[in-house]
Amino acid sequence: MSAQNLIITAPTDDERVKTWAGTHQLWGAALTLEDYLERERRQLDIPLARNGGLTNWILTEAASPAGGPRPILSSCETLKKKVLVKGKDGKVTEGTAHGVASVFTQPEHRGKGYASTMMSQLSETLADKEKASEGSAICSVLWSDIGKKFYARSGWQPFDSNHVEFPALQTPATTPENIEILDSLESLAPLVEADEAILRARFDSATQGSKIQVALLPFLDQIHWHLLRERFVSQSLFPERPVSPGHGAIFTSPATAKRVWSLWTRSYSGTVDQPEKNTLYLLRLVVEDGITDAELETALQGITDIARSLAGQWACGKVEMWNPDEKTKAAAQALGGKYISREEGSLPALNWFGKGPAEDLEWIWSEKYAWC
Ligand SMILES: CC(C)(COP(=O)(O)OP(=O)(O)OC[C@H]1O[C@@H](n2cnc3c(N)ncnc32)[C@H](O)[C@@H]1OP(=O)(O)O)[C@@H](O)C(=O)NCCC(=O)NCCS
Repeated sequence: MSAQNLIITAPTDDERVKTWAGTHQLWGAALTLEDYLERERRQLDIPLARNGGLTNWILTEAASPAGGPRPILSSCETLKKKVLVKGKDGKVTEGTAHGVASVFTQPEHRGKGYASTMMSQLSETLADKEKASEGSAICSVLWSDIGKKFYARSGWQPFDSNHVEFPALQTPATTPENIEILDSLESLAPLVEADEAILRARFDSATQGSKIQVALLPFLDQIHWHLLRERFVSQSLFPERPVSPGHGAIFTSPATAKRVWSLWTRSYSGTVDQPEKNTLYLLRLVVEDGITDAELETALQGITDIARSLAGQWACGKVEMWNPDEKTKAAAQALGGKYISREEGSLPALNWFGKGPAEDLEWIWSEKYAWC
């Protein structure tokens, strides 16, 4: 079918369920089909979605009306994120970054250019939609599991990404002095807000390099999206356990009351018997100004030990910390963390709607919180 006869549009409720059923084996293998559909359904009612932040898309025939029989040729979803941009003139602007996720073509439709057509139309739609109305769409981001080339053809240029990886511990960690576990969802809101304020201030005062700087913000709805997905999967995989095993840990300096904290989420690509497929991700590591190098080491040791131990208890084989800054990376490696420059899986890519090529951009703080 020629690309001119195809459109991207919103699926009906039934079509949406069909797309979920198609992706279950690939992205929800740890859950039964019924649980997977329920998780996706519930995701439509979390704060991010309620605030207009989540949109489902399908590619179908332009001539076939919604409600009637029409083919689902490819599908995906977008999640709105907040982004800051500092131009080469040093001026900071704020807008929307559309995260793209769950790009999927049913096996029988593959290799016919449908996903490519969908991505090209999506790129135009996202850039245009916001120009006309709700504020400014600055860019779109995604994390590719299929290499760097496919999405680059439709405008999403690949960026380098790395992480430090720690193996899970099979022994319970003791909570060291000056460290507390963050175990209620409610306790996280003030920390997420504090983090957003820290990043905004750092972005404003960052030295302007030769490139346009782009940073996604870790705002509350986005962090909740990660945690509520985790909560659902956790309840389904471990029905007999408490829902909240801890969402992070915080170190407070006894000398200055300055803090280091991390929030995390467990992600299950496998079942509880396949810990090698499951990962506990540090969504974000926050180091307040005024923390000394020695305090950073102590904090990192305590926080990663707790995370690694939790990973071990909750069927995750490893802990990943994405794109740490140089100082944190060195401290994490000194603790035995393995540095990995990612060439496969979760490769970040950015489609820039502004002026100038994407090569002119520097994407900073590309940590796991931004992922979708
Ligand atoms: C990836 C996917 C969406 C492509 O859908 P499609 O409609 O067949 O895509 P198109 O026909 O437009 O393009 C096919 C291209 O994708 C490439 N591609 C597909 N799967 C790939 C993979 N795993 N790794 C690298 N490239 C891949 C093909 O090689 C082909 O490239 P070519 O045109 O240079 O030959 C589809 O294969 C799919 O649903 N896969 C499972 C889900 C998935 O992995 N989604 C991506 C998550 S980031």
